[in-house]
Amino acid sequence: KTIDMDLDMLDKGGFPHYMLKEIFDQPNCLRDCMRGRLFAEDDMGGNDAYDPSTGYADPNVHNDVVLSAVRNNRDRLLSASRFIIVACGTSWHAGLIGKQLIEHYCKIPVEVDYASEFRYRDPVIYPTDVVIAISQSGETADTLAAIKLAKEKGACIFGIVNAVGSSIARETDTGIYIHVGPEIGVASTKAFTGQLTCLILLALALGHTKGTIDEKEYVDMIHELNAIPAKIEEVLKHNEDIRLLARTYTYATNFLYLGRGWNYPVALEGALKLKEISYIHAEGYPAAEMKHGPIALVDNMMPCLFVATHHKGYEKIISNMQEVKARGGRIIAVVSANDDEVSKIADAVIEVPDTLAPLAPLLSVIPLQMLAYHIAVEKGLNVDMPRNLAKSVTVE
Ligand code: G6P
Repeated sequence: KTIDMDLDMLDKGGFPHYMLKEIFDQPNCLRDCMRGRLFAEDDMGGNDAYDPSTGYADPNVHNDVVLSAVRNNRDRLLSASRFIIVACGTSWHAGLIGKQLIEHYCKIPVEVDYASEFRYRDPVIYPTDVVIAISQSGETADTLAAIKLAKEKGACIFGIVNAVGSSIARETDTGIYIHVGPEIGVASTKAFTGQLTCLILLALALGHTKGTIDEKEYVDMIHELNAIPAKIEEVLKHNEDIRLLARTYTYATNFLYLGRGWNYPVALEGALKLKEISYIHAEGYPAAEMKHGPIALVDNMMPCLFVATHHKGYEKIISNMQEVKARGGRIIAVVSANDDEVSKIADAVIEVPDTLAPLAPLLSVIPLQMLAYHIAVEKGLNVDMPRNLAKSVTVE
């Protein structure tokens, strides 16, 4: 059965648009996503694993990630020779980060493919493969077709889906619901950070079960992930600054988004957000690839956004910034708190709290969502229903 629901009936919670509401909902959405899955011991030195979202303490569970999908399919997942992630749009960007997470913590090779390419390519799929489908709506036609194909070839299908009971969820063997609530704005925001959270939980739970994650790193990640919602609240405090910054960039017809490592998919996602709702052409690129093409485009009409948090590759990205600066490009940079290097080069900086590198995307993507939103609003565009786009693409 489906519920017939008028969009206007859903409360925007005092925000002018669903997109802004959904951006601001992210701290609580991620708490919902982690509830009953992430257990971090309290800071009081107590032994009880404490779930802050429920106030529930379980004396039998200490710092741990508990996923029934991993517990119930332990052998199948651990014997996988390869993971293949299939998705479209924003969900595909989450998949690129998922690859890094699973390879890093579980030492299992991971491929990431656009569902539309995978399904038409005659892909090699083994019965020992695990195919992860990532989808907010659970109804994307290409993603659904991709997992049906993989299923026919005997692969195990693992879903990371938001819409409970959706077609993709029903087609999977097991999985994790994102649990971030209905997403109304066409440009995906809270579903993306929810997908990342699920992928982090999956990589940690699986890596811990497999013994490929160092115990200290596991506990540190649990504590840091637990602190992420409050850190997103810190980032959201920059909303007004970003609104003012956005006014300066409504003139742009092109934008370049650059990042490295964990932040490279964030650059792709930031560029997609800008394209989707502000109709400004934006390209996301791994920063080191800039010299193989995009640098030819840089001039004083080409703003460049760098995602330059203080992690591996930071010095390299600063030299990329200098190359842009030397060609007259205007630079906006997302940096870690207390960064004093980048502000010497960039025209504008937006700070995000420090965190562990694999969690950086959960913070660094937030300013990019806000920037795209405010540029679109400043241009007078319909941010919740951009032209030519659909929330759920149920056709090929
Ligand atoms: C559409 C939406 C995007 C979304 C993509 C994949 O293009 O506008 O926001 O990322 O489909 O959708 P899914 O529901 O499978 O995540």
